[in-house]
Amino acid sequence: MTVTMMKRTALKSLSRAAVRACRLLGERRVAAVFRDWFSKNPDYARSVVSACLRTLPPGDPARIDDSRQRADSPHRPSSPNDARRQLGEQGVAAILDDWIRTEPDEAKRTISACFRAIPHAIPIDDATLIDVLRRRADGQDSPFYSHHIYAEMEGCARRQGNRARRVLEIGPGSSLGALTCFLAGGSERAAAVDIEPLHGDRTAYYEGLKRYLAVVEGFRWWRNYATTDESPNISYPACWDQIDLAALAARIDYRAPALSHSMPFPDASFDFAYSCAVLEHVENPDGTIAELSRVLEPGGLTTHEIDLRYHGPSYDRLKLLRWPEHEYLAMTQRYGDGRGIDSLLDGSWQGEVYCNRLRLSDWLDLFHRYGFEMLEVEPLCTIAEDQIRPQELVPPFNGKSMQDLAVVQVRITARRPAGG
Ligand SMILES: C[S@@+](CC[C@H](N)C(=O)[O-])C[C@H]1O[C@@H](n2cnc3c(N)ncnc32)[C@H](O)[C@@H]1O
Repeated sequence: MTVTMMKRTALKSLSRAAVRACRLLGERRVAAVFRDWFSKNPDYARSVVSACLRTLPPGDPARIDDSRQRADSPHRPSSPNDARRQLGEQGVAAILDDWIRTEPDEAKRTISACFRAIPHAIPIDDATLIDVLRRRADGQDSPFYSHHIYAEMEGCARRQGNRARRVLEIGPGSSLGALTCFLAGGSERAAAVDIEPLHGDRTAYYEGLKRYLAVVEGFRWWRNYATTDESPNISYPACWDQIDLAALAARIDYRAPALSHSMPFPDASFDFAYSCAVLEHVENPDGTIAELSRVLEPGGLTTHEIDLRYHGPSYDRLKLLRWPEHEYLAMTQRYGDGRGIDSLLDGSWQGEVYCNRLRLSDWLDLFHRYGFEMLEVEPLCTIAEDQIRPQELVPPFNGKSMQDLAVVQVRITARRPAGG
C-alpha cells in the first residue's frame, strides 16, 4: 500500500465518525431524532438537554425546570444506533456549537425546531440558545477552550514549519487539555509548569474532551497538514474511540508548583513552548524569558498570548496603569500559595489579580535581550487612540507611545536562533 493510499484509508475511517452525519440530517430528521430520543429515554434526554442549558442566568424562563434535578441521571442509552445518544452533555453541546459555527443559518433553524419538538419544554429563542452555547465554549475549564488553545498554538508552530515534537506549556491552569491534544496529535513529549497545582479528579473532563474531539474531528488542522504529499513520514492517531485521553494526560511531565523563571528541565529540552494568559501574571518576566531561551533547543519556537488589559471590572482597559507600583502591589494578589485559576473560576479568589503591567514594547525588548528572533507580533485587541489618556497614567506608563499603549492583547511568536 502506498503512503498516499494509507493516508486515504486512514482519513476514510476517521470521516466515518457517526456524529458527522448529525450535521447533515436536516431539520425534520433532527427534530425526529430528538422526539424519538425523548420518547424512548426521557430522563436521559432531558438531563442532557437541561445540562446544556444550565448556564442560563437564574430565573430565565427557558430553563427546563422539571428535569434539572435529574441532570445526573444514571440512565445511559443502550442503543448504538444513534451517535447522539451516546455523546452525553458535552457531546451534544459540541455538536450544536460546531454546527452553529459552520452552518449558522441552517443550525439555528434546526436547533430551534428541535427544542420546539421537546415535550413540555418551554420554547427557547435562537439568540438565547446561541448565547448559552457560546458561553459554554468560553469556559476556561471546558474542552472547547483546551482544544481552541491547542489549535491556535499548533497553528502558530506549523506556520513557522515547527512540528512541535517536544512541547512545553507554561501555566496551563485548570486543565492539561491542550497538551493532551498535542500528544494525541503526535507530539513525542509534553511538559508543563504552573505555580499552582491542579486540584481534583479530571476523569470526567477527559471524557468530555474525548467526546468533543470526536464531534469536531478535532485534529482537522493537523490532518490537513498531514495529507500533503510533502510530509510522507507522518503517522495518524488511532481511531478516536480508541484514544485514551486520560492515559495520554498521565504522560505529561507536569511540574507544579514550579516557577516560569526557574523551570526544572535541562537545557534545550523543547522545540516548542507556549503560554496563554500567563506572561502578564509572572512576577519575574526577565527570568521567565531567560529560562525560555535556556529550555528551548537552538532554533526552537515560542508563542505567547499576553493579555495586557486591566483584569478588574472596568471598561477602562488601561486602568491598571493608574496606580504607582507600591499601591498597585498592595491592592493585588498573586497566583500561588493556594490561589490558582480554579479559585478564580469558582469565585473563591478574594481580590484583584496581579499583573506585571509590562506593555508590548517591554515584552519585545525582553525577547530581543535574550536573543530571540521575532517572527510574528499579532495585536489581538487594540483600543482607539482617542480613548487613551496618558495624562491619567502614572510613570513610566505615561511616557509610552500611543501605539504601544493601544495594544492590549497580543500574540508573540519568536525563535531562538539556530546558532544561539
Ligand atoms: C489566567 S491563568 C491562565 C491559565 C490557562 N493558560 C488558560 O488559558 O486558561 C494563569 C496561569 O498562570 C499560572 N502562573 C502564574 N504565574 C506563574 C509563574 N510565575 N510560573 C508558572 N505559572 C504561573 C497560574 O497559576 C495560572 O494557572
